[in-house]
Amino acid sequence: MSILYSPENRLLTLHTRHSTYQMCVDEYGFLRHLYYGERADGADFRYLLRDYDRGFSGNPAEFRNNRGVSLDTTPQEYTGFNAGDYRVPALCAVHADGSYAADLRYAGHETRPGAYSLPGLPAAFDRSPDDSATLVVTLRDTASALQVRLYYGVFEERDIITRAAEIVNGGDSVIYLEKAASACIDFLSGNWELLHFHGRHCMERQPQRVPLSNNVQSVESRRGMSSHHHNPFTILCAPETREYSGECYGFMLLWSGNHKTEFEKDYLNSVRVVTGIHDSQFRWNLGAGEHFFTPQVLFSYSASGFSTLSHHYHDMIRWHICRSQYVHKRRPVLINNWEATFMNFTTERLLDIARQAAELGVELFVMDDGWFGRRDNEDDGLGDWFVNENKLPGGLNPLIQGIKDLGMSFGLWIEPEMVNEASDLYKAHPEWALTVPNRPPMYGRNQLVLDMSRKDVRDYLYNCFAELLRNYDISYIKWDMNRCLADVYSHELPAEQQGEMTYRYVLGVYDLAERLTQNFPHVLFEGCAGGGGRFDAGMLYYVPQIWCSDDTDAIERLDIQHGTSFGYPPFTMGSHVSACPNQQTGRTTSLYTRGVVAMPGTFGYELDLNRLSSSEKDEVRLQMAYYKKVQSLIQNGVYYRLNELEEQERYSAWEFAAPDGSEILVNLVVKRVQANAPLIRLRFKGLSPEATYALEDTESRYSGAALMTGGYTFPMFWGDYPALQLHFTRVD
Ligand code: DGJ
Repeated sequence: MSILYSPENRLLTLHTRHSTYQMCVDEYGFLRHLYYGERADGADFRYLLRDYDRGFSGNPAEFRNNRGVSLDTTPQEYTGFNAGDYRVPALCAVHADGSYAADLRYAGHETRPGAYSLPGLPAAFDRSPDDSATLVVTLRDTASALQVRLYYGVFEERDIITRAAEIVNGGDSVIYLEKAASACIDFLSGNWELLHFHGRHCMERQPQRVPLSNNVQSVESRRGMSSHHHNPFTILCAPETREYSGECYGFMLLWSGNHKTEFEKDYLNSVRVVTGIHDSQFRWNLGAGEHFFTPQVLFSYSASGFSTLSHHYHDMIRWHICRSQYVHKRRPVLINNWEATFMNFTTERLLDIARQAAELGVELFVMDDGWFGRRDNEDDGLGDWFVNENKLPGGLNPLIQGIKDLGMSFGLWIEPEMVNEASDLYKAHPEWALTVPNRPPMYGRNQLVLDMSRKDVRDYLYNCFAELLRNYDISYIKWDMNRCLADVYSHELPAEQQGEMTYRYVLGVYDLAERLTQNFPHVLFEGCAGGGGRFDAGMLYYVPQIWCSDDTDAIERLDIQHGTSFGYPPFTMGSHVSACPNQQTGRTTSLYTRGVVAMPGTFGYELDLNRLSSSEKDEVRLQMAYYKKVQSLIQNGVYYRLNELEEQERYSAWEFAAPDGSEILVNLVVKRVQANAPLIRLRFKGLSPEATYALEDTESRYSGAALMTGGYTFPMFWGDYPALQLHFTRVD
């Protein structure tokens, strides 16, 4: 049983395969958190709580004569506000009389088999009936009809606990929510560090590890998107934690908009983590009888380092977050014309690129930005989703037919959420854009953002794209989003509801994504936001892959993909071989190195292959043949990072291992070759210790145990950014 209740001591215990999570209801109904960590069957952790009277940490009324208990010091599952807990709150509710108050006490719980869903929001799902179980604990405010239902989904085999909250107004006057986090967890003690993933456009998800000090540190986005700058995935770890040892906890939000995860180390050195939607520019009117649902967050614990934690998330995303059938299907090798032509193309020019690509083995041709409306530059076209016949005479048919005649399938770029002021759409519906009355708008790439909270906007967009997908043979869509939100104001909502817009916008995006992906399941969707500006588990519920970054430089990509891999599996990362010198950095790397770096993602090309020399074309042919040989291992294998964070400066190494240990593919790229350098020796993972392995193209044989313990010593490297792939297969 993964969820246990012991009525005599009011203990609620959740077990995953390797972790235990425990809480208790005390005699006054406070839901106290007791433990989250390594699995501990039969434990009753209540003894861990020692309540002392602490100065300036007040006591609830029940304890005024026995000043041992303070909400300010006791660990809790979900905290109210203005009731004596001065740490970061999970909930901030304002009642109709203006009072800020929520004194939340246990009112009951229920358990049920299977996963829970959240209306309009992405949520982890089951593949078979016994994949997960759900616990719902109801907390009730002592003086109002405000209720909070805490959801816990236990995916036992995946070592994941999902959490979310439902806030219910059971009374007859409005309650304003000024903060509604998905989850709160208090760690009684511990000397923790925070590993978070920050970045910028063209350098997303860079790991940064910092000690927690006695204050609040937070990882947050106020950009209306999960953002290039701060990913909604964070890790709390022990100072000694490494890739393959030490304790760590992950917190991953299924949310693609403004988010905030706060880490507070309080005056007793306990650590509180509160995670969910950002409370900035958020005020939700919870009317009588209404319910508000927070996004879901995935908790996971590993006692054996970051790699194990990553495996929990990779498996969870593969099996219980991504719904697309393409997760379990071979992805086509694609060519995208963006870096080859930008918006300057014609049918003939595209077919020219496609012909060469087809000849070399590419399977899918993607036409990027510039095919619609009057789109010749960034100033026009967005919103007008009809074909630009100046570039594509006769419409899409001649191009699609030409592509199909080459034996390839066809894909299209769209940017649904945006509009240019010069477009016909904007002229017809200026009120559909997010703008603040009587103020000039803030531009991003000279475009405005559509009000995705409006059903008429979503219906217009759905009809445009559904018509394209119905009328043409389109097997792939790249859904882009090229600016952050500002002027977040809906011309449809009344003044008092404008504080709901940051949340409603994302729900609108999810609604459109739901309709398109569910009604056209045969289409492979790729997410994108100026590269990886919306690379999060919320989007992965709808699309199985996301363009990882607009930086296609192989050496920069090493860092971006390495950071991304802490939370997200490689099969979700869009990754292409592009031209050199690279368009973002001017750096030159070999075609071989570029291939090695693009292969762990959803492999493809983004250049005009006609421009390659004939020997380079031969190399691409071989590269593609090699990729197709190892593709199933890459897509379905277990991914291991082979270098520690501090080694990433000099080299990056990773491995894919077949789940049955029958083969592994080791990849190494040296970022900095040095004279007389120490040799790189790596221990491989996921082999069968008793088996013998052959190294491809050699006579060499190794025992699995040897490669995992003694490891493998790489030769001395020479030149700029050399790379090496080693494929070992089991021979006995
Ligand atoms: C940003 C994307 O990340 C690029 O790949 C490309 O699609 C451009 N937008 C097109 O505008």
